[in-house]
Order: sequence, then C-alpha cells, then structure tokens
Amino acid sequence: MGTYRLEDLKQYSDTLRTRDGEAINVRFVEPRDTEELQHYVRSLSTRSRYNRFFGAISELPKGLLNDFLQVGERDRFTVVVTRMVDGFEIIVAEARYALHAETSTLEFGLSVDDRWQGHGIATALMKNLECRAAALGAEHMFADTLRSNQTMISLARKSGFGLVNHPDDWKLVRFDKEIHRAPKDIPCASWRLAALSRQADSPSASA
Ligand SMILES: CC(C)(COP(=O)(O)OP(=O)(O)OC[C@H]1O[C@@H](n2cnc3c(N)ncnc32)[C@H](O)[C@@H]1OP(=O)(O)O)[C@@H](O)C(=O)NCCC(=O)NCCS
Repeated sequence: MGTYRLEDLKQYSDTLRTRDGEAINVRFVEPRDTEELQHYVRSLSTRSRYNRFFGAISELPKGLLNDFLQVGERDRFTVVVTRMVDGFEIIVAEARYALHAETSTLEFGLSVDDRWQGHGIATALMKNLECRAAALGAEHMFADTLRSNQTMISLARKSGFGLVNHPDDWKLVRFDKEIHRAPKDIPCASWRLAALSRQADSPSASA
C-alpha cells in the first residue's frame, strides 16, 4: 500500500462523540497540519509526552515529524482528532497506527491533549481505530505502554484489551484485542469504503 493521495484522504474522516456528546472529527493528518501537530505535541504535559513517546522529547524530532505526515507509507497511518474553536480547527488528540500484514495485526499509539483528558476521547478513538483495523484486514490490534501508565492500562482493560508482558522490554506492557471483522456497531468510513471495494471486486451472482 503506497502513500495516499491528498485528495483521497478526506473520505476516510469520521465524526466521534465525547462522553458529553460533543462532536469531534477524526481524519488522516494532512501537510497543512504540520505546524498545528507540532504545537499539539509541544503543548502536551511532560508526563503525557513521556508516556506517549517513551522518552523525554519536547517536540517531534524532524525525522519523526516527517514520518507522522506520511499517510499510508509502509502501511503506517496518522490520524488527528479535531474540534472547532472560534472557527479554527484545533487538534485535541492523535494516533498513529501500523498494519503488520504478515501477522494480521495492527499496532497503535495515541495521546489526548491534557486539557481534554477524561472526556472519553481515547475510548471513542480506540473504537474508531478498531474499525479502521478491521477495514485493513487486521485480526488483532495491540499497543505497548509503560508499566507505570495506570491511566492507559485502566483504559485498555475497560476497552476490552487483555494485558500481556512485552516480549523484549520489562518496562513495557502490551495490550491486545481480537478484532471482530464486521464492526456493525462501530462503523467508520474506512470500513464502508473497504466493503464497497470488496463488492466491486466480486459482484454478486445476481448482478
Ligand atoms: C491515556 C490517555 C490516552 C487516555 O485518554 P482519555 O481521553 O483521557 O481517556 P478517556 O477519557 O477515554 O478515559 C477512559 C478511561 O481511562 C481511565 N482514565 C482516564 N483518565 C484517567 C486519570 N486521570 N486517572 C486514572 N484513570 C483515568 C479511566 O479508566 C477512564 O474511564 P472512566 O472515565 O470511565 O473511569 C491520555 O491520558 C493520554 O493521552 N495520556 C498520555 C499519552 C499516553 O499515555 N498514551 C498511551 C501510550 S499508547
């Protein structure tokens, strides 16, 4: 799968709801987001950045920023969650995911702006990622987090993930979930587009 064309990215956008019912948008990152994405990372608390990137960084290093902006390259994707504030679109969360086709797994990492934590954004985003994973044909999704990150561990448990030891690093814990291939209750644009393309590939006998 190559890098997605800019004009194709918008069709993969979804509307999610915070716990209070506010509409937020989840969409693939675009080149126009470069400054805002870097601003978002710089604005995270030191602790949130450490928990997200497993290291003391103050912003995305150039190479990583560049990786974040490549959607689809080497089956890696970045989504941003945005809301409108006074006519401006503000990033309130982000997630990066990678399809490991050889194991049919999807690996992800995410963060939510400290001012927006506790509003159910990560819960909604993880459901959306599950749907995106199913659309890509993944059978499991997993993420690694620091053993000390009780917030993420508690969120993972509540979201139906099982916890296992990390294969190589004792400081990390891995959470993993089997993906149901027909996520009718958590529809997303990626799933609908994948279904349409499957339909086009194998039209029914009555067609
Ligand atoms: C972990 C993180 C993504 C959670 O995002 P969030 O949007 O606040 O999560 P939600 O609002 O959906 O909360 C879901 C659950 O997480 C847990 N949780 C959220 N905030 C918490 C807090 N401050 N303390 C303890 N548990 C908390 C709770 O179990 C909560 O469920 P509840 O509200 O029903 O009790 C966010 O704290 C974050 O971005 N942290 C920094 C980056 C990070 O740790 N990333 C994980 C690496 S993959």
